[in-house]
Amino acid sequence: MNDLPGLPAFPVSRPRRLRRTAALRRLTAAVAVRPQDLVLPMFLAEGAAEPRPIGSMPGVVQHSMDSLAKAAIAAVQAGVGGLMLYGVPLVKDATGSGADDPNGILNAGLARLKFELGDATVLMGDLCLDEFTDHGHCGVLSLDGSVDNDATLQRYASMALALAEAGADLVGTSGMMDGQVGVVRRALDEANRYDVGVLAYVPKYASSFYGPFREAVDSSLIGDRLTYQQDPARGVAEALAEVALDVAEGADIVMVKPALPYLDILTAVAADCPVPVAAYQVSGEYAMVEAAAERGWIDRERVLLETLLSIRRAGASMTLTYWAHEAAVLLGSA
Ligand code: PBG
Repeated sequence: MNDLPGLPAFPVSRPRRLRRTAALRRLTAAVAVRPQDLVLPMFLAEGAAEPRPIGSMPGVVQHSMDSLAKAAIAAVQAGVGGLMLYGVPLVKDATGSGADDPNGILNAGLARLKFELGDATVLMGDLCLDEFTDHGHCGVLSLDGSVDNDATLQRYASMALALAEAGADLVGTSGMMDGQVGVVRRALDEANRYDVGVLAYVPKYASSFYGPFREAVDSSLIGDRLTYQQDPARGVAEALAEVALDVAEGADIVMVKPALPYLDILTAVAADCPVPVAAYQVSGEYAMVEAAAERGWIDRERVLLETLLSIRRAGASMTLTYWAHEAAVLLGSA
């Protein structure tokens, strides 16, 4: 019987019973993060002889070709489920011609990773022009300086074939042009590349949390992406509509981006989506935790694992995170 002072004498529920021991908590856990659900985004810099640190992303580097191969193999051995590659070219131009050049840095890197890892991991390549354009936008520009949606789609179709040829299992359409998934799917199908899937970055918000990423890829962007990425002030309905469009156009996986500030969106998308739903814990989310940890203000490892758990609990079946390798090691030894 209840003997708590001031409460009536009848049995009361005691939720703390199941929290008493680690074994009870482990048995009753509803969600867990598994190493194989984590995808590691990696940066490969053309002409780099050594890995170069990225100031606003402590612990993350722009890889050289050899350090990329080594780090990718180590991450896969630690159990991560996939790799997402971004290229940082030496030369950028108006149309991002390095993006669909078979010898361009992204395609060369994918080919190297395919050679090293074969089908032992899921190899993904970013299908966007922003790393390759001298103006830093995700597409080609019209005369008035705005991003030309349909001219950009032509470039994406060509880039999709280049990434597929280089060895990507999945291409990540991250440019937020209307119709991009359909155009990429058709280009792949016409080349008989039915085997290559589309990871659609949608819903993808025009977020200031991408700041450190722009340093990571030496972005030349002046301005913002507010005219093509989604408005953070729009709600769940728009997110669901964007997802429905991309699924109809052939998206194999959709991805909510950023993750932690958009868990409401993630939960809504995951609740009713016919394809797997990923989340991207982006550079700014990473940087915030690293910065606070550096000051000794938070327990770094516990916080990073808690963020991953929260993203999982909100409904992500996989998460792109710069902590993928480290988290896989932490989870493996847990
Ligand atoms: C675009 C792209 C961006 C990110 C991934 N793909 C930058 C942007 O949209 O401005 C950001 C990822 C991150 O911040 O970690 N190619």
